[in-house]
Amino acid sequence: MIYEPREDSYLLAKHVAKHAFGRVLDVGTGSGIQAVTAAKKKQVKSVLGVDIQKAVIEHCTSKVVGQSRKLRFKQSNLFENVKGKFDTIIFNPPYLPEDVKLKDITLDGGKKGYETLERFFDSVNEHLSPDGIILVLFSSLTNKAKVEGFISNNLLEAEEIGKQNLFMEQLYVYTAKKSDFLKKLEAKGLNNLRRLTKGHRGLIFTGLIGKKKVAVKMQRKDIGATGTVDRESRVLKILNEHKIGPKILFSGKDFFAYEFVEGVFIPEFLEKAGKKDMIRVLRDVFMQCYKLDRLGMNKEEMHHPYKHIVVSKGKQKKATLLDFERCKKTIKPHNVTQFVQYITSGKFGNIVSGKINLDNENLRELAKMYKENIKLKNLNNIFNSIKWSF
Ligand SMILES: C[S@@+](CC[C@H](N)C(=O)[O-])C[C@H]1O[C@@H](n2cnc3c(N)ncnc32)[C@H](O)[C@@H]1O
Repeated sequence: MIYEPREDSYLLAKHVAKHAFGRVLDVGTGSGIQAVTAAKKKQVKSVLGVDIQKAVIEHCTSKVVGQSRKLRFKQSNLFENVKGKFDTIIFNPPYLPEDVKLKDITLDGGKKGYETLERFFDSVNEHLSPDGIILVLFSSLTNKAKVEGFISNNLLEAEEIGKQNLFMEQLYVYTAKKSDFLKKLEAKGLNNLRRLTKGHRGLIFTGLIGKKKVAVKMQRKDIGATGTVDRESRVLKILNEHKIGPKILFSGKDFFAYEFVEGVFIPEFLEKAGKKDMIRVLRDVFMQCYKLDRLGMNKEEMHHPYKHIVVSKGKQKKATLLDFERCKKTIKPHNVTQFVQYITSGKFGNIVSGKINLDNENLRELAKMYKENIKLKNLNNIFNSIKWSF
């Protein structure tokens, strides 16, 4: 089915005529209208039109390609068969919520209408040159806030440059480009950047350096707190010297990049672990808490460290403490005692029941002694009081 140019096509083409430059990629080329419009521009060097439909590519290679020497066409599901980088990437996507009766690939953008656009934005950065632009169209039926979310999740900055009212909907044309922050990270060799989570003060992105998975924490700009990410990065650098925390790779104003720790959170690990691994990991965590105590740093959160300890999956079973946002200097360190609080809690007890016997009262007593005198001997007393019953 070849999409006959309609209002949306003409609206987008107007902006293509104005902004397209360099090497151009037209995704979902259909009749080829955007590709041909771009090819007419002096500033445009070459145009590749792709479409998921074979019939479209057959049509374009027989009827459209002759209109300009700059034109080429290729079948591709989004970027699947696309290589290299482009200065202008155009997409007039199928953007309507799926209509079971309609089943029209030129219109259906997925169940909600924005799924194809989401996939587009999740991989567009790999194909966009550092100073390249994206020209994209969608409608009020697509969910504007969602689309804007996909854009910012991928560290792009967008601007609405066109608008048109139709009978039942409104059309929008957006241009998007790489944010300075994204360009900075890409210049350091980071690729495939995408947002993982949004914390209270920071955003976390994951990416790749070569084949190595890397995480980047960045200060949120939409809330009042400032400088918290820089503070965390300073703390982590000190702790890294003591082999605590994920390893920082590089940092800059309001962000730091660190090795992504592949593994499972501590509750999941404890549920499945055998005795040897469990002893090793709990000792490892206790030792790290002890080091923190000796350094006079409180990590916080160690009494409910569900998402604060990751255990690596391989044979090694190394525990890495995560998230040092609240970590600060103290004269009353309580990392070990907080961790004792966790292992004497019902939640921990339920997970390890049948595997570990704990005399909670004795443990709390030992924790009190440790608190009065932060010494390795007192830490060992705590650890040695744990009875393993496998
Ligand atoms: C709304 S039409 C736009 C056609 C043309 N670019 C225009 O502006 O008139 C959407 C086009 O995207 C194509 N398409 C849909 N899903 C696609 C995908 N996953 N990858 C590439 N093209 C896709 C459809 O075949 C259709 O030709």
